Amino acid sequence: MKLSKPKLLVARAMFLDELACLNDYFELELNQEDHIFSPEELEQRLQGKLGMICTSSAKINQALLMKLPELKIISTIAVGYDNFDLQACTQYRVMATNAPDVLNETTADFAWALMMATARRVSEAEHFLRAGEWKKWGVDFFVGADIHGACLGILGMGRIGQAIARRAAGFGMKVIYHNRSRLSADQELAAHHARYVDKETLLRESDHLILALPYSSHSHHSITAAELALMKSSATLINIARGGIVNDLDLIQALQAKRIAGAGLDVFENEPRFHPDFLALKNVVLTPHIASASERTRRAMVRRAIANVIAVARGETPPDLLNR
Ligand code: DGY
Repeated sequence: MKLSKPKLLVARAMFLDELACLNDYFELELNQEDHIFSPEELEQRLQGKLGMICTSSAKINQALLMKLPELKIISTIAVGYDNFDLQACTQYRVMATNAPDVLNETTADFAWALMMATARRVSEAEHFLRAGEWKKWGVDFFVGADIHGACLGILGMGRIGQAIARRAAGFGMKVIYHNRSRLSADQELAAHHARYVDKETLLRESDHLILALPYSSHSHHSITAAELALMKSSATLINIARGGIVNDLDLIQALQAKRIAGAGLDVFENEPRFHPDFLALKNVVLTPHIASASERTRRAMVRRAIANVIAVARGETPPDLLNR
């Protein structure tokens, strides 16, 4: 008698050629139209499934898990897993996995792209040109802030933060950071001699401050009006982490009042929705959560998520298990 394969939901559209290897282990349900499931739809799609490959758009909590006795593995194509209630996963014996490491360098590249675009007012200047407003060159025309020789501040010095810091060597920057725990002397050396400082010093001394910390109840609204008030008026703030780390209303007010010079934002608290007042601001660069979006890296993230579910199908421990 041929045993039927366990069922797996692939909750978002992705590279079909990468998914092909899953057919050896699972009966797949795909979502190639890339419809974002409501909580009710997700519950319905997950009935009878052993596992799911998803992204940050899938919110996994106790209310959902208690209705899914067959679910054993949820595997997100992201390093961030703030959409998973890990305690509930453990309670319902569901393994939760993420896709770390493979995106560090690509995400760090993008943090730099946002920092440079913000400091040198690239989006604002391009809009000006496209609007046909360029009539003459001027000495104080679109002047911005230098990257080279400036002080780079990093809040959250995990693997992505360290990859961001390493790039500072080529620009002769000084690097300071704040993190829950201090790096080892060797790690600081490798991160372009990054200097550990308290959060207040980080805010006061950074010319460009990049947020690279994970989102949790502890990091929620780490940047509010109080923190923005400590920053230099010439400083820029870059967020490639999660939107909820910043209080958007406070940031909008700071940008309107030119309390800081600019912001580069790849993430938003309730994305894909974001506060409409951002659109009226010239001193922001806004991108739709694409920091890890190079083809090579996104494929690597997908492969990592696949390896985690295949491990479970083989009765092994998934390599990126979060709730050990
Ligand atoms: C991540 O990996 O966490 C990225 O932000 C994509 O969600």
